[in-house]
Amino acid sequence: MAQPPINVDSLGPKGDGIYRSARGSIYIDRGLPGDRLKARFFRDAMGVSRGEIQTILTASPHRQGPQCEHYDHCGGCTVQHLTPLYYQDWKSGIILNALHRFGVPVQKILPPVFLGGGTRRRATFTAVETRGKITMGYYRRRSRAIANIENCPIADPRLLELRATMLPILPSLLVPEKPLDIFFQIVGQGVDLMFTGPIGRRGQPDPDVLEAIAPIVPEAGISRIGWRATPRHPIRTLLEFSPLQINFGPLRVTLPPAAFLQPTPDGEAALVNAIMEGLPGAGDFADLFSGCGTFAGHLLNRGRVDAYELDPLAVRAMKKATGGQGLAVHERDLFQEPLRREELNRYDAVIFDPPRAGCPEQAEAMSSSRVQEVIGVSCNPATFSRDARILCDGGYRLESIQVIDQFLWSHHVEIVGRFSKSNRRGS
Ligand SMILES: C[S@@+](CC[C@H](N)C(=O)[O-])C[C@H]1O[C@@H](n2cnc3c(N)ncnc32)[C@H](O)[C@@H]1O
Repeated sequence: MAQPPINVDSLGPKGDGIYRSARGSIYIDRGLPGDRLKARFFRDAMGVSRGEIQTILTASPHRQGPQCEHYDHCGGCTVQHLTPLYYQDWKSGIILNALHRFGVPVQKILPPVFLGGGTRRRATFTAVETRGKITMGYYRRRSRAIANIENCPIADPRLLELRATMLPILPSLLVPEKPLDIFFQIVGQGVDLMFTGPIGRRGQPDPDVLEAIAPIVPEAGISRIGWRATPRHPIRTLLEFSPLQINFGPLRVTLPPAAFLQPTPDGEAALVNAIMEGLPGAGDFADLFSGCGTFAGHLLNRGRVDAYELDPLAVRAMKKATGGQGLAVHERDLFQEPLRREELNRYDAVIFDPPRAGCPEQAEAMSSSRVQEVIGVSCNPATFSRDARILCDGGYRLESIQVIDQFLWSHHVEIVGRFSKSNRRGS
């Protein structure tokens, strides 16, 4: 039965247009408020009501043509069809709505930082040979099939060059019909290359695989090559030509394979700025979920730092780093064993930057502490707001938030929130 036209009411936090029907919300893929359109409705595997646009009768004033030729089929970007101003308002609104949902008042909203394209320093391309034809790109929208991606306006152009360099040797690497993930991370002038999946004739790296890769190494500036069978397996370093080193303030770290780095150098700099502006000029600091020391390194310019991190490779890299006078590194599972109130009370300020799941256990312990300044960094507005609620229930005030958009054209958004506690409750 033909559906009558509908009007899209609002834009959801994941970039779907929302049509509020009499039977509840329907999520319209790439719909925008102001669109009048015809859509095909269906329920997805999770039972959520969705709509696929068939015809746009009147286009929203917030709609624009996408920047990328692959936008229609690539699963990477979700909101290239938004005008820049609308995009910026929507991104800032995601965090404000999440805070509102958790009843967290914020004293000051600092001007958001929106970063441009062409700066993403890492990418995972997937390559597959299907019936003799090789494709290398990203997953298609809502599909396990691979789209051939030759251009990507969010990526550092060097990543596209790396992809092109890899193409001629793929016949020697791919196992027919088996996808191989190819991860590149650019660190300064060097490149970390890691394969995930079956590779070569035997499905494992052998001398033939290395021989096939060798010719592209100098041209592509590859510093290290790693492999793992699946994302759950440890990474095996196959070849290392030169150490991949990075400076975080005075700290010079030799990075472990496929190390976590903020996705763009500009985003990293903006986060460091936002953190440093919210901190006292000198003191003792704790950096929780420290990774390889992105923030801890800069904090060394202000005083002593304790870095806490789960990943033993990141911990080892920080311990071996140069310029780390004043830095103590602790391998610790902060979900299982959050820093206790008495431990926290030693610090003038605490920074936490957990994975997307957030850190309610650690927030609980912090909420009863006497730490005066707490800075939270997060790429998940919902878990950030939940953890902010926990801190506020313990007497903290959310002094400011700042959006740092280093995930251009996606629904992801990075937030820096500064909390303070002026009284001595909880001591
Ligand atoms: C979003 S990253 C932030 C890293 C670092 N702040 C940076 O900017 O480079 C989150 C970090 O938390 C670490 N992590 C994950 N689960 C953890 C846990 N249970 N305890 C401690 N660290 C954990 C990850 O290994 C990762 O390094």
